[in-house]
Amino acid sequence: MTEIERVATQDILNLRRDVMRPGMDVSFVMYDEDNDEDSFNLGIRMDGKIVSCVTFFKKDNPDLPYKNQYRMRALCTHPDYRGKGFATALINKGMSVVRELGAEAVWFHARVHLVDFYHTFGCVEYGQPFPVKYSCMHINMYKVL
Ligand SMILES: CC(C)(COP(=O)(O)OP(=O)(O)OC[C@H]1O[C@@H](n2cnc3c(N)ncnc32)[C@H](O)[C@@H]1OP(=O)(O)O)[C@@H](O)C(=O)NCCC(=O)NCCS
Repeated sequence: MTEIERVATQDILNLRRDVMRPGMDVSFVMYDEDNDEDSFNLGIRMDGKIVSCVTFFKKDNPDLPYKNQYRMRALCTHPDYRGKGFATALINKGMSVVRELGAEAVWFHARVHLVDFYHTFGCVEYGQPFPVKYSCMHINMYKVL
């Protein structure tokens, strides 16, 4: 079974940068919310290094009517370790953790080509796709827990 651990932000910045903003400074993948008390990262370690990670911020989305929402952000798996179910395991674990913490919903900005992937978790999209600087088109998605 895949072991999932809590990981420090500083230990996933390079992975985040290499996957989400390759060639750019790590400051492009550092978020204000990383420092919030309720924020947490989950990671999967293989061959001694973290190869897949995801981050959850306790943050309400005013578009949604649910209590205690979390934002899921910066889901990434190193290219050499994709297709092994790591991202799936991290999403399932993260959703389970925040549900235990009393969250009613998780929301995030999905890359449009991954909408069907997120559908498999019961997530739904709303609104129109929008551009994200230094990235591709995204769309709002959420899951009621
Ligand atoms: C998206 C991403 C996190 C998936 O990581 P992963 O660990 O390979 O995911 P899983 O192994 O759990 O994938 C399960 C399923 O997701 C789907 N999937 C994975 N990557 C995909 C992609 N790039 N495009 C479309 N579908 C994808 C596949 O259907 C896959 O099923 P399969 O195992 O039958 O092929 C990884 O491709 C990645 O880091 N991409 C770049 C960063 C990114 O886009 N992050 C998400 C921002 S919204």
